Amino acid sequence: MPDFAFFNKQFMPLSEAKVGIMTHALHYGTACFEGIRGNWNSEEGQMYLFRIKDHYQRLQKSCHILKINLPYSVDKLCQLTVELVERNGYQEDIYVRPMAYKSSQTVGVRLHYLEDDFFIFVTPFGPYLDIGKGARCCVSTWRRIDDNMIPPRAKVTGLYVNSALAKTEAWENGFDEAILLTQEGHVSEGSGENVFLVLQGNLVTPSSTDNILMGITRDTVIKLAKNELGVDTIERPVDRSELYIAEECFLTGTAAHVTPVIEIDHRKVGNGKAGEITKKLQQLYFDVIRGKSSKYLDWCTPAYRSKLVA
Ligand SMILES: Cc1ncc(COP(=O)(O)O)c(C=O)c1O
Repeated sequence: MPDFAFFNKQFMPLSEAKVGIMTHALHYGTACFEGIRGNWNSEEGQMYLFRIKDHYQRLQKSCHILKINLPYSVDKLCQLTVELVERNGYQEDIYVRPMAYKSSQTVGVRLHYLEDDFFIFVTPFGPYLDIGKGARCCVSTWRRIDDNMIPPRAKVTGLYVNSALAKTEAWENGFDEAILLTQEGHVSEGSGENVFLVLQGNLVTPSSTDNILMGITRDTVIKLAKNELGVDTIERPVDRSELYIAEECFLTGTAAHVTPVIEIDHRKVGNGKAGEITKKLQQLYFDVIRGKSSKYLDWCTPAYRSKLVA
């Protein structure tokens, strides 16, 4: 069975969904995207799409910033995604990639007088970082792009050059992930994750004005920490040296889930193993995203009308 994509306003085999080499977004990074996880629940034979509505609401905001006309409502986007996931019928964890982009086949740097288009594809997707052992991180020599350069609260493709430079530098230097600082030297985020610290028993994370993507996993963890562990999260500027003295540190993201950070710049975090609060949040989060927690089922959209048995 071929993989399907949604492209040019219709479902078609993924192999036939192609853009031309003159496509504006390819040249100038003028596209907005989302990454949505489908989490396979083998006991139920069901694929749960996590917080899909929130992802599409964020895509709408990104498109508004980039002057991209997204011709579908959030409800319609959710419906199209569910249909696409069902057509593909995977029985493993997946990643859904919707993208709205400047599709004109033309040369010229601008946002105006251009056509827009939209596609979605689905691909199998396992763990992104080692969620069991944890990640060894470095503070990047690359600084996070500022809101006045390319707004990081918009998930714009062009912005990811900043992330890619940091990620590859980290990897070439033997680390798993990079943590980027703002121009002012405050902690911003990982190349594709938000950062949390445990400091004197409190959860601390960079605030919305520190050039972060307002992560949906970040929001999930803030809510789970409050509701289930009674731990509040303080959103504030975070110094680099606080990374070194934190009792615990972890990264959050659709790809990374909740990944413990066990080392930063060759300094152990805590005892060099995943911390207690991190482990509790990780467990809660994994139950929630696979539809195993009735309290948070509203966040999980089942994609399959009838149960699929592996
Ligand atoms: C730069 C960046 N920060 C943070 C995140 C985490 O956001 P979310 O939890 O919504 O996936 C992502 C991933 O989408 C990202 O690319």
